[in-house]
Amino acid sequence: MAERFGSYQSEIYLQGFGGTKPEFSTDATRLESSAEALMEPGPFSYVASGAGSGSTVRANREAFDRWKLVPRMLTDSTDRDLSTSLLGTPMPAPVLLAPVGVQSIVHPEAELATARAAAELGVPMVLSTASSKTIEEVAAANGAGPRWFQLYWPNDPDVTASILSRAKKAGYTTLVVTLDTWTLGWRPCDLDQAYLPFLEGEGVAIPFSDPAFRALLDKTPEEDSAAAILRWIFMVTGTDRTWRQLPFLREHWDGPIVLKGIQHVDDARRAADAGMDGVIVSNHGGRQVDGAVAALDVLPEIATAVGDRIEVLFDSGVRTGSDVLKALALGASAVLLGRPYVYGLAHGGEAGVRHVLRCLLADFDISMGLSGNRSVGQLSPSVLRR
Ligand SMILES: Cc1cc2nc3c(=O)[nH]c(=O)nc-3n(C[C@H](O)[C@H](O)[C@H](O)COP(=O)(O)O)c2cc1C
Repeated sequence: MAERFGSYQSEIYLQGFGGTKPEFSTDATRLESSAEALMEPGPFSYVASGAGSGSTVRANREAFDRWKLVPRMLTDSTDRDLSTSLLGTPMPAPVLLAPVGVQSIVHPEAELATARAAAELGVPMVLSTASSKTIEEVAAANGAGPRWFQLYWPNDPDVTASILSRAKKAGYTTLVVTLDTWTLGWRPCDLDQAYLPFLEGEGVAIPFSDPAFRALLDKTPEEDSAAAILRWIFMVTGTDRTWRQLPFLREHWDGPIVLKGIQHVDDARRAADAGMDGVIVSNHGGRQVDGAVAALDVLPEIATAVGDRIEVLFDSGVRTGSDVLKALALGASAVLLGRPYVYGLAHGGEAGVRHVLRCLLADFDISMGLSGNRSVGQLSPSVLRR
C-alpha cells in the first residue's frame, strides 16, 4: 500500500477540532519570514539570501509560476503511488533533502535533527561536506534511513579519498559532487555583515574528524582551530576542476555518482559521456551566479537530451507540491528540497523538519490526485501549459 502523505491534511484539521493548531505555518514561503524573526541576522541572511542582486533567487520562483497545471477529471486517482527508486535508492516519493551545510547556525541539533526526521519518513537526505556534525554521527542519527553524500572536492587527493571512504563505510550510497561552488559566489548580504560561518568554526566537523586532514596539520584543530579552519577553507575553495579529473572520483567511489550544479545541456551530455550516473539541474538556489538562468528553464532541454541515459534530478526554487509535480512533468526523476526544510529546522529542530516535509509531501500527494495523476511515472509535459 502506497504511503498516504495527504492524510497529514486531515490530521491537522482533526487536531484543530480538538483545539490545537499547527505550531508553524504549512506554507513554506511564510516560514521564511517567521524564521527571520527567530534567527540571528547573520545566519538568517546566510540561508535566505543569494548572489548579487538576488535575481536568480527570484528567477527560480518566477520560472515555476510560468508553468500551469491542467487538471484532468474522472481519472480514478483515489489510490496514488508516489513511490520511486533512484540509483538503487527506494523512496516513498521522488523527493530528497538537498545538501545544506552548517546547519548548526540554524539549530543546535543541526544535521542530526534533519537526519532523524528524514529517516522517519524514509526520505533520503544528502549530507553536505560542510556539515556541522561528522559523517558518522549523522549516519548514526539517520539509522536505517537512506542517505547520500555530497562532496565539496578538496584539492588534496588523500583528504578526498579519506572522506569518500568514510562516507561509503557509514552507509551513504550515492555520491553527489557539487561543481558550482568551487569558490563562493558574491553574496552582498553576507559580505555586508562580514559573516562567514566557517570562520567561526561552524561546518567543519568533517575535516576536523578526518585522519588524513589532521595528519597535514602542525597542531590539532583542538589546539589551533584558526589554522585548521584556514587550511580547510583553502582546500575546498579557489580551485576549479576539469572533466579530466572525474576518473579520480570513480577510482575512489564504487557507487553511483551524480554531478550537481549542471545548467547547460552540453555539460549534461558530457556528464553522461563521462559515465556519470546522474546530474542535478541546479543553480544552488541562486547563491552562486547572479543573473544565471532559472534552473527550471533549462530542465526540459537537459531532460530531453540525457534523460534516457542518466538520472536527471532537480533543485532550486521548490516550495510547494505543485512545484514538485511541475519539475517531474518537465523531466526530473526527483527533486531536492532546500531552504524550506532549513526554516523548519529553525522553527522546531527535528519536529520542524518533519513538519515541513510532511506538508510538502501532503501537498504533492493531494495535488497529484486533484490534477488526475495516479503515479509519478505517468507525468509528462502534457499535464502543463506555459
Ligand atoms: C544555507 C544553505 C547552505 C547550502 N549548502 C550547500 C552545501 O553544503 N552543498 C551543496 O551542494 N549545496 C548547498 N546548498 C544548495 C542546496 O543544496 C540547493 O541547491 C538549494 O538550496 C536549492 O535552492 P532552494 O533552497 O531555493 O530551493 C545550500 C543552500 C543553502 C540555502
